[in-house]
Amino acid sequence: MPRILVFAGSIRTGAYSGRTADAAQRELALQGAEVTRLSLADYPMPILDQDLEKESGIPENALKLARQFAAHDGLLIATPEYNGSIPPLLKNAIDWVSRVRQDGGHPFQPMTGKPVALCSSSAGRFAGIRCIAHLRTVLVRCRMDVITPECSVPSGSEAFTEMGELKDESLRRSMETVAAALIERARLLSTRIEP
Ligand SMILES: Cc1cc2nc3c(=O)[nH]c(=O)nc-3n(C[C@H](O)[C@H](O)[C@H](O)COP(=O)(O)O)c2cc1C
Repeated sequence: MPRILVFAGSIRTGAYSGRTADAAQRELALQGAEVTRLSLADYPMPILDQDLEKESGIPENALKLARQFAAHDGLLIATPEYNGSIPPLLKNAIDWVSRVRQDGGHPFQPMTGKPVALCSSSAGRFAGIRCIAHLRTVLVRCRMDVITPECSVPSGSEAFTEMGELKDESLRRSMETVAAALIERARLLSTRIEP
């Protein structure tokens, strides 16, 4: 079964995107994926500045995160929405990983062609749908293979049971669809025989 990396775009205690990532992680595992969960808190990086990049190169944590991308057949990102768009923690991590071109002197393209599924959540009724559209555009630009189904969770404070499950039946079905589509795409890619 494919190996899937799951993470949230927020490291806030009790983050709705963290709970959305938990729900995604459970659903992916239920459908047979081998899931790794990481927190961006474990990959602190400076704000991307090209002078810094020129002087010091790619930060070690960006390279480590890039290696995590490469070590999995697919990714699932659960993002919050800040001012209708991508929160800086997540955008900065993506920007740094997009700058990784080499590992140990060898060409390395951790994002190219990698299947990725997107979920969003917010405190309000719009569920982060403006952010998810921006994130999709950014990741396509980074040459990732962004799958079509997505799951957006509104009213984060009321959306989950005490057990962390999505209360809403239609959201649970959306999450099932996202997980199934990601597993299918990741499996296709991981079993492709190179000529
Ligand atoms: C700087 C900032 C901007 C925000 N902008 C939006 C927004 O555009 N749309 C929205 O639904 N919620 C917005 N929120 C509220 C977030 O949905 C809420 O803080 C949520 O809990 C953040 O995600 P998290 O729970 O995953 O950390 C904003 C919050 C912050 C801190």
